[in-house]
Formats: sequence, structure tokens, C-alpha cells
Amino acid sequence: MDNKLYFSDHTIQIYNDDILITNCVDEETIDLIVTSPPYNVDIKYGSYDDKMDYEEYLNFTRNWLSKCYKLLRNDGRFCLNIPLDKNKGGQQSVYADITTIAKQIGWKYHSTIIWNEQNISRRTAWGSWLSASAPYVIAPVEVIVVLYKKEWKKISGSGESDITKKEFMEWTNGVWNFMGESKKRVGHPAPFPVELPMRCIKLFSFVEDTVFDPFLGSGSTLIACVKTDRKGIGIEIDKNYCKLAKQRLIEEGQIYQLKFKEFSVIKDKIQKYNTPKSPKNPRNIKFFSKRRKEDA
Ligand SMILES: C[S@@+](CC[C@H](N)C(=O)[O-])C[C@H]1O[C@@H](n2cnc3c(N)ncnc32)[C@H](O)[C@@H]1O
Repeated sequence: MDNKLYFSDHTIQIYNDDILITNCVDEETIDLIVTSPPYNVDIKYGSYDDKMDYEEYLNFTRNWLSKCYKLLRNDGRFCLNIPLDKNKGGQQSVYADITTIAKQIGWKYHSTIIWNEQNISRRTAWGSWLSASAPYVIAPVEVIVVLYKKEWKKISGSGESDITKKEFMEWTNGVWNFMGESKKRVGHPAPFPVELPMRCIKLFSFVEDTVFDPFLGSGSTLIACVKTDRKGIGIEIDKNYCKLAKQRLIEEGQIYQLKFKEFSVIKDKIQKYNTPKSPKNPRNIKFFSKRRKEDA
């Protein structure tokens, strides 16, 4: 099992493996899956052919959705970022087809979030310009399908939520408006912004839960895990993207700095118990009560 382990920290694991055949993740151990699979739109990934026949793509989808179903706890949730429609290489109702397959496997449907990427410049094809003969209609949005395994009400885990009132009110409105991520900045052909997994994690999981991304790519989901105190597991078939994810965890997730912060907190605690200026020392207590009087 461990030879596929590319990187591990005390709360993060990256496996260089194929989600279809992996045995790196134990069944019924995952609280939340957040992922964006390949869209079958001929993106040039390193180790994956993103240009399949549509039926073959749906078959691939069925296989990985079945695999993920087994890994989730009974009260686990799944945030699946996919396109609404596909226009490249023939029109297809991707969202409708994938949701139907998921339900056939056993996934239960909760709701759908529309992610408005606010990027209308991506439009390239008009079909028949200013003519009704064959115009193209394209919605410049993606969706996040929210599914669950057996029970929507979450009973396992710490029970601790870290979402603010403002975030809760804003994010439970199912139209999310934020920009997509720059491929160039990240160095991956199809990254989602950290904002996307971050919102899903805070809305649908408890602090210290285990979050899983079977198509890790550049590691955005794991960065969100580090920032929200969740455990994170990612699987990525391409070793170069595993390397990129690790690098981003260090630079953007600041994993080693966090470790240092934790070390500092422990060091402070030890010092408080060992020095004469411990809070247990009456001189310190006097100081705090004096300050409080002044403040009042
Ligand atoms: C849409 S990208 C995910 C991007 C990611 N959300 C991010 O923010 O960087 C899909 C990723 O899945 C990987 N992939 C494709 N087939 C896979 C498989 N069978 N198992 C694991 N990873 C796979 C690709 O290499 C690609 O990096």
C-alpha cells in the first residue's frame, strides 16, 4: 500500500495512484469527497487521455463513482464539480448524465450549486451568427452536485463547525460567484480555485473530518484542508502533479510553517509552567486584574 504514498504530513497524504484500482484508502473512512474529474474535453494532462468516446467516458465515470461510494462513511457527503453541458466534440448533457449514473449506483441526491465563474471571455463559438439556422447557447457556469451516501444528517465526527454566520447565509444560497483559477499561475491545465473546496469543506464537514479528492491535480483540495484543520487524502495518477501539489502545500498551504506554529504553542505552554512568571504566580494574576480595572 505504502509504495504509492508520495507525500505525507501528520494530517495530509498524497498517493500517486489510479482511483480505479487503488487500495490506498480504507472503505468507509471518508467524511467528505470534494473533486473535479477530467471533463473529457481534450485537455492535455500528463498521464491521462482526456478525449474518449462519450459512452466510454460515462463508463469510466460509473467505475470511479462506484469506487468512491465504498470509501465514504454512511453519513458522508460528496461535492462533485462537473460541467453543466459539453459543447466541444458534440453537445452532451454531462451534468444530467452523471447525476443519473450516480443515483443508479446508490448515491443520494441532495442539491446542486451553480458556480458562476464570471468568465464570459471563454466563449469562442456562436454557431450561426445572428441567424436562427444553428446558433449555440452556452451557459458560462459549472455545477457542484451535492450527494450523500445513506443519511444526510451527520452524526459522526467532532460536531464542531467553523463556518461564520455571514458565510453560512451566503453559501447556502446555491449560486456561487467567484473567479476560476489561472492555469498559468498554478502550473496545471485545469485547476479549480481553493475557494471551491474551502466552501464545501466548511459547509459540509466538521473540524478534523477526513476529506478526500480522488483527482487531486495541483492539490487545491488539500490546501483547503490544511487551512481548515481537516485531514486530507488525495490521489493523482500523474507523478508531476503530485510534485506540484506537494509544492503548493508548502508554499500556499504553509504546512511546515503551521508545524512551526504548533511547536511554538507547545514551547509557550512548557515555558509558562516552568518559569516563575507562570500565571499561577500571584504577581502575574495581580497584573491581569490591574489591567482589567484600567480597561473598565
Ligand atoms: C480536473 S483535474 C483536477 C484538478 C484539481 N481539482 C486542481 O485544483 O488542480 C483532474 C486530474 O485527475 C487526474 N486523473 C485522471 N485520471 C485519473 C485516475 N484514474 N486516477 C487519479 N487521477 C486521475 C489528472 O491527471 C488530473 O490532474
